[in-house]
Amino acid sequence: MKDERILSFDEFDEVVNPRPEECEFDRVVERALSRRGFLGGVLAMGSFTAVGGSLVPSGAHAVSNRFAFEAIPVSTADEVIVPAGYKADVMVRWGDPLWSDAPEFDHATRGTAASQERAFGDNTDGQDIFLHDDHVLLVVNNEYTNRDILWGNNPDAKPASDDDIAKGMMAHGVTIVEIASTDGKWGIVKDSPYNRRVTPQTEMSITGPAAGHDFMKTAADPSGTTCKGTWNNCGNGVTPWGTYLACEENFNGYFSAEDENHEVNADLKRYGVSSKDWGYGWAKIDDRFDVSKNPNEPNRAGFVVEIDPTDPTSTPRKLTALGRFKHENAEVIVNNDGRVVVYMGDDERGEFLYRFVSEGVYAAGVDTNALLEQGTLSVAKFNDDGTGEWLDLTPESTGMASQAEISIHTRQAGSAVGATTMDRPEWVAANPNAPEVYCCLTNNKNRGVKPNAGGDDTSANGPNPRDKNNYGQIVRWRPDGGDHAAAGFGWDLYVLAGNPTVHQDAYAGSENVNADNMFNSPDGLKFDSNGLLWIQTDGNYGNEGDFAGQGNNQMLAGDPVTGEIRRFLVGPNECEVTGLSWSPDRRTMFVGIQHPGEDGNSHWPEGGDSVPRSAIIAITREDGGLVG
Ligand code: FEO
Ligand code: CA
Ligand code: CA
Repeated sequence: MKDERILSFDEFDEVVNPRPEECEFDRVVERALSRRGFLGGVLAMGSFTAVGGSLVPSGAHAVSNRFAFEAIPVSTADEVIVPAGYKADVMVRWGDPLWSDAPEFDHATRGTAASQERAFGDNTDGQDIFLHDDHVLLVVNNEYTNRDILWGNNPDAKPASDDDIAKGMMAHGVTIVEIASTDGKWGIVKDSPYNRRVTPQTEMSITGPAAGHDFMKTAADPSGTTCKGTWNNCGNGVTPWGTYLACEENFNGYFSAEDENHEVNADLKRYGVSSKDWGYGWAKIDDRFDVSKNPNEPNRAGFVVEIDPTDPTSTPRKLTALGRFKHENAEVIVNNDGRVVVYMGDDERGEFLYRFVSEGVYAAGVDTNALLEQGTLSVAKFNDDGTGEWLDLTPESTGMASQAEISIHTRQAGSAVGATTMDRPEWVAANPNAPEVYCCLTNNKNRGVKPNAGGDDTSANGPNPRDKNNYGQIVRWRPDGGDHAAAGFGWDLYVLAGNPTVHQDAYAGSENVNADNMFNSPDGLKFDSNGLLWIQTDGNYGNEGDFAGQGNNQMLAGDPVTGEIRRFLVGPNECEVTGLSWSPDRRTMFVGIQHPGEDGNSHWPEGGDSVPRSAIIAITREDGGLVG
């Protein structure tokens, strides 16, 4: 049996919350075959037009010359590879102190809770750059920790003390740090007044419909309006008014009960909360995480958190109006009519894609707090004919008692209105040059195999056309009339990842995938200012079988018009490439390298016998040119 330590979060959910197996092999194969005809219909058009409506000019299959780099081959080396003419420097690593009175990272002990609280967090994920009064501020999520790395100096890689557990806790959250370029090399500015760690212990306020609801009240907060901390922050977003959005993803894996036989209620089960945590041990040092003592505490996680990076004394705000689920990122755009639209994925097999539209409009002098507190939350329904619609989540449509309840039990609300089950929606990115939006559907081994945790059918459907989907795809949609608040949209698939050297069917991928650019499990996604789409992967790096020839995780660039995709970067061993931003002058690209050596086979970035450390790299052109 696979060691529990290397199970993914949702695989672990299945271990502790087994779901009924519904696998009928014959039926699955038959469906896979029948979908192939459909795929042929979509993809044979070549220009990636939708079945039901053209999303891009047909015939737009000309050779692209929009890439400023030559594609690179795959790699299985323990290093970062970038194209000729580019260089990549490590800028900041897990454990680097943000203040000069804090110690440097200690490879022998991997630090203490006290040192970690004053240092860059672990497992860098979503990130953005803010320019504030000539200061360049990097804000970055520190998603989680790997036991084998964090506690690898202890027997069995287990916490040896409460301080070890607290060290792990302090490695989570968000890091805000000023950065600067000196002699062409970026580094952090120690002791900057902007430097800040937001951790699972930072005071937060609860805003929006769920604030004050009974489900949000705990012994420590009988008002249901304040809570402590954020953790498992995956992707991110930025608002037009200069705040950062940290998105809480696998929040469930931190709760446990002293009595392992404690039964959690069905609403918590839908989110994977159980009597066992994922090895973090937080309930041992903080009762908040013991779900038998504080059954409402998990209702206060799973939100998008708004942080003002320019004010280190500001209180982060949990935005319940944007719904509670395993948030990947939050792509914010201002609609033509001034309303603020946020697109968001729920990264779990068979869960949904969401949209929030603010009630008010963004304009000079408005109360921006209210914009993300009041609005309409909707969930996507994709039709097989290339059309789709946003289904509003209201008490009337869901049968639920209040908007507050919908904001807390958002997955249940999505199920109630018949949303389309998706292949794990990861990052969403809006094209700056056209009213169209893209979303990575990373993979889903359960597609066509068993229902989601709410019992919703997960048979193959339009944007999720392959059973046991181990490669993933990127779906895109164009709102009707170019109006991001419209009820309807047209959609198609930008790319179906696959392996054309192993398969000849739908698992070979779409026609813009070939032996030279193939990849699996698209996850991070962001447009640059030129309108190129950057794709980051968090997939199988075994480089064999279905994944033969795909190497380590990587970053590619895609042309949204021609469909062409080129590989730009390959990461070190056993990493995921996630998080992307640019310097204000667009001459440096910052890329996150998460969990190098998660299975024990990397010493990146320092080499030798060093502990592998998640880090952000700064990529520049040797000629000093623009990089996006
Ligand atoms: Fe943290 Fe869905 O990736
Ligand atoms: Ca991700
Ligand atoms: Ca992922």
